[in-house]
Amino acid sequence: MFTLIALPYTPEALEPVISAQTIAFHHGKHLLAYVDNLNKLLPGSEYEGMALEEIVRKAPAGAVFNNAGQILNHNLYFMQFKPASEAAQRPEGVLAAQIEKQWGSFEAFKADFEAKGVGVFGSGWVWLSADADGNLVITQETNAANPVVKGLRPLLTFDVWEHAYYLDYQNRRAAHLAALWQIVDWKVVEERRLKCEG
Ligand SMILES: [Fe+2]
Repeated sequence: MFTLIALPYTPEALEPVISAQTIAFHHGKHLLAYVDNLNKLLPGSEYEGMALEEIVRKAPAGAVFNNAGQILNHNLYFMQFKPASEAAQRPEGVLAAQIEKQWGSFEAFKADFEAKGVGVFGSGWVWLSADADGNLVITQETNAANPVVKGLRPLLTFDVWEHAYYLDYQNRRAAHLAALWQIVDWKVVEERRLKCEG
């Protein structure tokens, strides 16, 4: 059985970038529904007892994939943030150097990531991942998809489903994505990158 992930910050901690009300719905209602749905689908299925990521890699398109994918996506999403006053605002060390090597500058990387997020048609996600050689790649994923399906290691993601921003930004997806950088916990992103090196 899967459980709703506990947030490492209070509901209002990410304001004004993400409001407490959005956290309450996004984490407490949307993510909880995916957890409840998956827990109903698993008993007696071939996926019972599998780790979440394994389910996402193995399940075909359908309800199990959609709910497991959305739990994996949201767990990575919610755990990568911290209050803007405590967040570093930019990556450091190897990650920063790799971004500069591939994009020229952190600013150019952010512009590319935001544009790809804005460019997702309908509901989905934009991801920064590492490939098997340690190179960074930005991918657009629709609905519940996750880069692990493509053999990539997910490092950072912005949720572009409307439920992630509509209460705070209405239809202004680009404004929401531009604001999210303020609360990215780059230490978490770097830890994910180091884990795939090991
Ligand atoms: Fe979401």
